[in-house]
Amino acid sequence: MTDIAEHVAAEVAARWNGETGLHWVEEVDGFDALLDPMGRAVLDAAGLVSGQRVLEVGSGTGQMTIQAARMVEPGGSVVGVDVSGPMADFARRRARVEGAGNADFVVADAATVDLPEAAFDVLTSRFGLMFFADPAPAFTHLVNRVKPGGRIAFVVWQEMERSELFAVPAAVIASVAPHLAVPPPVPGAPGPFSLGDPARLEALLVCAGAGDICVERLQRRLRVGAGIAEAIDFVMRSSSLDAVRGDGALQQRVERELRRALADHTGPAGVELTGAAWLVSARRPAGGPAEGE
Ligand SMILES: C[S@@+](CC[C@H](N)C(=O)[O-])C[C@H]1O[C@@H](n2cnc3c(N)ncnc32)[C@H](O)[C@@H]1O
Repeated sequence: MTDIAEHVAAEVAARWNGETGLHWVEEVDGFDALLDPMGRAVLDAAGLVSGQRVLEVGSGTGQMTIQAARMVEPGGSVVGVDVSGPMADFARRRARVEGAGNADFVVADAATVDLPEAAFDVLTSRFGLMFFADPAPAFTHLVNRVKPGGRIAFVVWQEMERSELFAVPAAVIASVAPHLAVPPPVPGAPGPFSLGDPARLEALLVCAGAGDICVERLQRRLRVGAGIAEAIDFVMRSSSLDAVRGDGALQQRVERELRRALADHTGPAGVELTGAAWLVSARRPAGGPAEGE
């Protein structure tokens, strides 16, 4: 890694080990309900069967890791790699409580994680691949952990404006407090939308030595809350509204606008907003030589 990439990777790790990671642990039920439909699509694409060894990247608080661990029983196992100590601690506790003894969690930067080459039948991820300081070597390193012929299945977000989940709160902020609007992401910088360009995503996989690459649009209705009050709470606690929370009057105005905006998305299943992801499936080619790193 270059000095700049090392610096960026350290910043990303600090964020996930600090407030951001703690926020995901505190809001675990909300995030799990929200992202479960996306994770189910990843697991379907991964086609897991008994006995397989799975590597999950950015396993976070472990919901999908444990689901995968169940699918590969008996005889299989899952290793979740995550840079966040607090999130991995939570995932470990959860696996113990839920009796998923075949799910293991490693705290490391997945870009360089020390795991054997060609050790896994399948690599999966639910929104854990967009935060690398230097994605090309990270993808190569990860593809090389997969056995020749092994599968790769993951989701990353499309560009922000394609998901109501991000566009609705952003529009509320833009109307109530435009000076606090989150600036558009810097192209190429690590972050939730860094792999929103499907051409870039495919190029990364090709350079990493993956084959049979399929990048599909995946749109799901994602549950933000059981009712409006819960949905507003969940959205108000998100990091994009950090600046709003310090100001009581402004917070009230934002909440009022959010209530109005979310009313259009409320139905019998609760408050749902669309999420637009790229569902990627690929393979490490069988029999080919390992790519250099
Ligand atoms: C958006 S969260 C998703 C968490 C989990 N997959 C889920 O869907 O609930 C992204 C996850 O990627 C992890 N992460 C970010 N950069 C990473 C890196 N370089 N190596 C390993 N994990 C990383 C974060 O700590 C976090 O757990």
